Amino acid sequence: MQVACYTAYGPPETIAFIEAPVPVPGPGEVLVRVRAAPVTAGDARLRSGKVPRGLGLLLRMVIGLRRPRVAPGWAFSGEVAALGREAGDWAVGQQVFGLTGFKGGAHREFLKIPSGGCLLPLPESLGAEEGAAFFFGGLTAAEFLIDRAQLAPGERLLVCGATGAVGGAAVQIGRHLGASVAATASPGNHALARKLGADSVTDYRGPPPEGPFDVILDVMGALGWAGAGPLLAPEGRLVLVTADLSGMLGAALRPRRDGRQVITGTSREDLPAMRRLLSLHQAGGYRPIVGPVLPFTDLVRAHALAEGFHKPGNIVVVMPERPISSLGTWQGS
Ligand SMILES: NC(=O)c1ccc[n+]([C@@H]2O[C@H](COP(=O)([O-])OP(=O)(O)OC[C@H]3O[C@@H](n4cnc5c(N)ncnc54)[C@H](OP(=O)(O)O)[C@@H]3O)[C@@H](O)[C@H]2O)c1
Repeated sequence: MQVACYTAYGPPETIAFIEAPVPVPGPGEVLVRVRAAPVTAGDARLRSGKVPRGLGLLLRMVIGLRRPRVAPGWAFSGEVAALGREAGDWAVGQQVFGLTGFKGGAHREFLKIPSGGCLLPLPESLGAEEGAAFFFGGLTAAEFLIDRAQLAPGERLLVCGATGAVGGAAVQIGRHLGASVAATASPGNHALARKLGADSVTDYRGPPPEGPFDVILDVMGALGWAGAGPLLAPEGRLVLVTADLSGMLGAALRPRRDGRQVITGTSREDLPAMRRLLSLHQAGGYRPIVGPVLPFTDLVRAHALAEGFHKPGNIVVVMPERPISSLGTWQGS
């Protein structure tokens, strides 16, 4: 099977493909044949090592000083190809979607995952590409809006950067929670922002929309406290989805400012959070946005698009339709 790997920190061309044997699922493991996988802002950051100011050394201390010692690919959709012993109630042929998470490994044709890991049956309401695009952005938007900012019905939400993976999910979830939603986007994305549920849309390169807002979701950290603070209502919450080191330290050391709150951090990647997002989808509150769809062999191009930070929703790469016989054989244990 084809497996993508990072060879160095650097441009998309540092991605290489290697041939590897199809893995054998061990006890308690599920072998998934990957059908589609997103190429996210997170993937682009891990590969390039380009993170917000002040966080570069920390990233390298966690994932590797000289090259990213994580495998490409954070999420996937596919089907169960084989089961190890005691692999729970999964069935061969079942459509699934899930997360490999921070350690990666979804950009390959087959992956092994613990049967009790971040894996769920793919609902009939989602195709393989939507399944791939489902979690990245959606989990972040749900956690920041619901758990951290506690957005309430009737509140005014501003989503800055409203049509990418995080912002596109936030507009939908905010609307579903009963907030009025103002959005910023580049002019070419205004129609999409409205379609997702924004009540008003302005260009983020112009003057900021008129506040006050109860919650501001600053997707790229472009407003920061200096830009967003004056737009916040008393007791308003600013969520910095992207923050540099000083923004993170500021939020940790001074989270409350004149009754208003600054929130930052990373979102959880676990089954309860995945199930909650699925419930939101089933209640009509969230549908993933599938951006450009490319073949897996175009992974380098997908990374180049992702690191521009102007894509709609999630880019998805689709695996080749190779006959299983051409991939060698394996035996479940
Ligand atoms: N904290 C966490 O747990 C977490 C989780 C996921 C992602 N992130 C971070 O969140 C950021 C966004 O991720 P994503 O996947 O949503 O990215 P994305 O899909 O590339 O979307 C980026 C969005 O930001 C907008 N944008 C670009 N430049 C902007 C600017 N100068 N001012 C305002 N908006 C701007 C884009 O709008 P146009 O396309 O209209 O230009 C687009 O809507 C990344 O920095 C990522 O690393 C953090």
